[in-house]
Amino acid sequence: MRAHLVGIGGGHPDQITVQAVAKLREVDVFLVADKGSSVGDLAQARAEILRRHVPGEPTVIQVPDPERDRKPGDYGTAVLDWHDARARAYEEVLAQLDPSSTIGFLVWGDPALYDSTIRVVERLGIDFDVTPGISSVSMLAAAHRLVLNRIGGPIVITTGRALLDDVNAGADNVVVMLDGHLTCRSLVGDGRWSIHWGANLGTDDEQLVAGPLDDCIGEIEQVRAQLKAEHGWVMDTYLLRR
Ligand SMILES: C[S@@+](CC[C@H](N)C(=O)[O-])C[C@H]1O[C@@H](n2cnc3c(N)ncnc32)[C@H](O)[C@@H]1O
Repeated sequence: MRAHLVGIGGGHPDQITVQAVAKLREVDVFLVADKGSSVGDLAQARAEILRRHVPGEPTVIQVPDPERDRKPGDYGTAVLDWHDARARAYEEVLAQLDPSSTIGFLVWGDPALYDSTIRVVERLGIDFDVTPGISSVSMLAAAHRLVLNRIGGPIVITTGRALLDDVNAGADNVVVMLDGHLTCRSLVGDGRWSIHWGANLGTDDEQLVAGPLDDCIGEIEQVRAQLKAEHGWVMDTYLLRR
């Protein structure tokens, strides 16, 4: 048994590489984490990618995603426990399959960036390869026609959870992901930050806002709330620059 972990970009069927399509076509069985009805549009986007790029009726097995402990406490331990639980759920399914099968995992964006699939599949003890995908960071930069780094300078990619610590440590050119609370609100008021924000990038509902953080934050909050009300979910990424 072997697995292909395939980066599928932001969900638009055109935003997948030729190499990724070739890998998808080698797969016998796709395993997808079933995250419930709150992500209906995302499940549809994934189905559309398979419909467009894989001939016939590919076999897709939905694996119920284990609950993650979101109570305050040791975040790192909670995430590792969740990876173990996910691996156990996949193992149960793999035990029912022909041992010569090629398994496929569809990964949003790029598997190397803030995604657990590589860590979970490592726990399964099967041979696997990884095909890169277009990440939300690349989509954000392209949508705003941005170069992410200043000339010769560094760029920090971080999460909403870690943003303020990174800024306090001196980061001044920062891409922020996984920030359901718009942590950048804490930086409003000192007049020194600009923001390039993008939500649901690569989809028909893509939204972009850019300018001084102090001026833009109200519009970002409003657009974010509207997307969430319309779709039940919103995914956003932003560049903050001082
Ligand atoms: C679990 S991470 C997955 C990142 C993914 N592996 C990648 O390469 O973009 C989820 C975060 O990615 C960002 N993201 C994913 N898809 C996005 C999209 N279509 N538009 C904007 N941000 C997106 C958001 O910051 C979201 O909280």
